[in-house]
Amino acid sequence: MECTKRITDDLIWVGANDRRLAMFEGVYSVPEGVSYNSYLLTDDKTVLFDTVDKAVCKRFMENVASALDGKPLDYLVIQHMEPDHSFTLDAFLTRYPDVKIVCNEKTLALIKQFTELDIDALLVKENDTLDTGRHTLQFIMAPMVHWPEVMVTYDQADKTLFSADAFGTFGALNGSIFADEVDFSKDYMDETRRYYANIVGKYGPQVQTLLNKVSALSIELICPLHGFVWRSNLTAIISKYVRWSDYQPEKSGVMIAYASVYGNTENAAEILACRLRDKGIKTAMFDVSVTPASEIIAAAFRWSHLVFASTTYNAGIFVSMEALLNDLVAHNIQNRTVAIIENGSWAPTSGGLIREKLSKCKNIEILEQTVSIKSGLKTTQLPELAAMAEAIAVDFTGATTGIGEEKESEAASIDPAAMFKLTYGLFVLTAKDGSKDNGCIINTTTQITASPIRISIAVNKSNYTHDMIAKTGAFNLSVLTESAPFRIFEQFGFHSGRDTDKFAGQSYDDRTKNGIRYVPEHTNCVISAKVCESYDYDTHTVFIADVTQTLVLSREPSVTYQYYFDNIKPKPQQSKDSKKGFICKICAYFYEGDSLPEDFICPLCKHGAQDFEPA
Ligand code: FEO
Repeated sequence: MECTKRITDDLIWVGANDRRLAMFEGVYSVPEGVSYNSYLLTDDKTVLFDTVDKAVCKRFMENVASALDGKPLDYLVIQHMEPDHSFTLDAFLTRYPDVKIVCNEKTLALIKQFTELDIDALLVKENDTLDTGRHTLQFIMAPMVHWPEVMVTYDQADKTLFSADAFGTFGALNGSIFADEVDFSKDYMDETRRYYANIVGKYGPQVQTLLNKVSALSIELICPLHGFVWRSNLTAIISKYVRWSDYQPEKSGVMIAYASVYGNTENAAEILACRLRDKGIKTAMFDVSVTPASEIIAAAFRWSHLVFASTTYNAGIFVSMEALLNDLVAHNIQNRTVAIIENGSWAPTSGGLIREKLSKCKNIEILEQTVSIKSGLKTTQLPELAAMAEAIAVDFTGATTGIGEEKESEAASIDPAAMFKLTYGLFVLTAKDGSKDNGCIINTTTQITASPIRISIAVNKSNYTHDMIAKTGAFNLSVLTESAPFRIFEQFGFHSGRDTDKFAGQSYDDRTKNGIRYVPEHTNCVISAKVCESYDYDTHTVFIADVTQTLVLSREPSVTYQYYFDNIKPKPQQSKDSKKGFICKICAYFYEGDSLPEDFICPLCKHGAQDFEPA
């Protein structure tokens, strides 16, 4: 029975998952399985992008037939001839003999190498296009991402990049198809990195060439041959590819890989890890005899500093460590600082041999001092490990890579404008301490549970109302309506209750049962609540509170933050004397000056510099 997933109105995933495969490419364990993706575009002409591995041939055939829904298949685009995407080609062409294969010359040569097929293909070159009706497909060559014949395809109509192996991941698709349907960074990023490092890690410059080519395109959807389709937050994956392909580490910290026969080398590695942690340096440790090399290679791509600790074996490096180092060198690891620990009961040579191997890699700085153990670590050698930890720590202080860059990369994937897409209401939050009444404007409240009815509010600590609630544990929320005039926001939002009476001059003195005042005008309801828990979040406290009373006052619609911006907040006036400055987007306060200090806080509404825009 077919099992397909719709991606757009005219694009259907017709691939399949394999959870029985033990070793992908015969080398890489895939405990979470793997997906072989194939996509059918249904336009005036129908186009299939790649076929699949033989293990899932039957499901794939059912999927394609079902997605075609009786239409003929016009084109098969072969972007990558590796057998995990082409093993079913023979069988597929038997079923669809009239399909026109679209590929490049290198692909055609590989078809002839892998099969006895005599193909009359439509050969394409860089930036050639194929019109299928509404869609125009543009072919972009991507040699060595991961094989020489690889090309990717850009659908100009829907801004879709069919990316071949690029942006793929290990792991089967468990019912979902889009990366934003899962917690990708938590559950899949490690496998994505392992896939990248091991499958295309060697070919960083070629990946960069592809990234440069596609950077000129407007891409809204990425469809790789393994793993999830990306339709949102594309920078999350693209920024990783930029970093990985440049062999820049993602994280400041030390990956320690050790090979230990009787635990003595492991002991030295553990002590080093402790000394590093004592200095606040993050560490990750792997026993190369038990952890698959593909995981350690992925970790080496992730961390900024690497330590290799190995016993000497048959006058060489211990076997599993030697295999790992060969693999790392083959994968072109670069731009790392390395430290070495060696062990050997009669002729410790592993350190020098490790040094020799890594000398083939670009921009690898190996710390001069190797810690050399004879059989077991001696107390007298502890200072050597401490010195190694110190040398690594010193390298961190001078390092240009690391945490800063990681934060930068994360920041690059966060657009503050996204926060303005959240829908908020606006509320007057009131409290009472003794005889003092006070209130402020907030936009951060939400119902948490229905039974009991419980809400949360987040209140800026600089607000006097915050201190009153923290002290008394009680508050009222007056839910403002669209008719609320700007003066209410001025009254409660732009002054501090510490030096003004927020209710001065008001004709009303309405209070709920808890004795706290509320705003009876331009308000459609009042909610009284009693705090049951509070959480400190730097600038704000989040109060969780049980609702104790409600008053519904009118049927007028509640005002939203967006409505306030569009209809209530006065529009900034052009300065008559063309003074340079910045305007608070919240309250329209004008700051005069050429530049706004990063830590500037609006004196009226207390919002930070991020809420200002140039006047
Ligand atoms: Fe998924 Fe390079 O093949």
